[in-house]
Amino acid sequence: MAYDFDEIIDRRNTESEKWCNLLNIYGRNDIIPMWVADMDFKSPPEVIDVLEDRVKHGVFGYPMLKDEYIEPFIKWVFKKHTWKIDKNWVIMNSCVVDSLKTAVLTFSRPGDSIVIQPPVYRPFFNLVTSNGRTLLTNPLKIENGRYKIDFNDLEKKLSEKRTKLLLFCSPHNPVGRVWEENELRMLGELCLKYDVLILSDEIHSDIIYNNKHLPIASLSKELQDSTLSFYAPSKTFNLAGLRTSFVVIPNERIRTEYETVLSSISSMSINIFGLLAASAAYQYGEKWLDELIDYLKGNIDYVIEFFKHKLPKVTINPPEGTFLLWLDFRRYGSESFVKNILINEAHVGLEEGSIFGQEGQGFFRMNIGCPRKILVKACDNIYNAFKSLI
Ligand SMILES: Cc1ncc(COP(=O)(O)O)c(C=O)c1O
Repeated sequence: MAYDFDEIIDRRNTESEKWCNLLNIYGRNDIIPMWVADMDFKSPPEVIDVLEDRVKHGVFGYPMLKDEYIEPFIKWVFKKHTWKIDKNWVIMNSCVVDSLKTAVLTFSRPGDSIVIQPPVYRPFFNLVTSNGRTLLTNPLKIENGRYKIDFNDLEKKLSEKRTKLLLFCSPHNPVGRVWEENELRMLGELCLKYDVLILSDEIHSDIIYNNKHLPIASLSKELQDSTLSFYAPSKTFNLAGLRTSFVVIPNERIRTEYETVLSSISSMSINIFGLLAASAAYQYGEKWLDELIDYLKGNIDYVIEFFKHKLPKVTINPPEGTFLLWLDFRRYGSESFVKNILINEAHVGLEEGSIFGQEGQGFFRMNIGCPRKILVKACDNIYNAFKSLI
């Protein structure tokens, strides 16, 4: 390995939400944090070098967004996901959640309905309800241990008169599904049939294990014209704090509407370091990412084997993408009972499934984006806290 993912980096006192907000979240500081979705690894050295050079320059005035900063992203998406994007379709913005919010405000009105597929990334709920839109859930269903879309229920929700948008998580956080082509086509067909716009959050699309990620917009001209796709280098290269993301809107009418609302609610919010980091990561970060994915696979295998042998009452299905594991603790009792043991006996900070919707009740999400030593310690702590419970 050319890159060292075993290095333990002290992130306390570094403005890290994951490491500095423990007292607030868990009521104590002696917690191994495995919650919010950033990783405990340094970003690629190729990115750090570019940032260091820029810092040394010492002048940090307003940045100017040139096409040359968008090109690397476009090339990356073509190489990784075989989708040819035109540079005119791309809008840069600070972060995916804000871009999703702009889309919600642009393409729905208060009282309109928006469909989400829980258990799902928590801010999806808030994006709908805090803007006065009606939440319609299309819960995922578990078949033979694998999460699937319930298409009958989806059709019901999409066909409701005031449904305007589907907030789609692809790949899916927290259940780790990488949607297959037939699933994407079925979902796309239904959205086209009922004239529902797709907001496809593809922030996790680069960390994929055995499958291939397919951007839903790449599947047909019709889907391209009725989808907004959201990307960022933040999960892939651990750059979330630099707040840089990309929205791809091929349809000109939709893009113009989006841009009109965007410019009415914010000025161009690009950070000079985010701009440079994203550009460098997409140009020079591929080898680092390949090694990261191998390392994460090793972490996933470790946790799955560990629980299989030591605490078999907890079941985990291997994720197809993301650095998030979805642990089924339901056989140990209620979520609050398990949570209390995890925090106060194991001293491990996972996220309880119910925050991803009631369908996640009893599951816990574990972020395995950390050096193996930290992971081993967390697993040992969990084992010691649960081993005497039958
Ligand atoms: C599905 C999904 N979308 C968006 C985000 C956040 O993206 P951003 O920080 O760019 O708003 C996350 C972070 O965990 C995520 O999992």
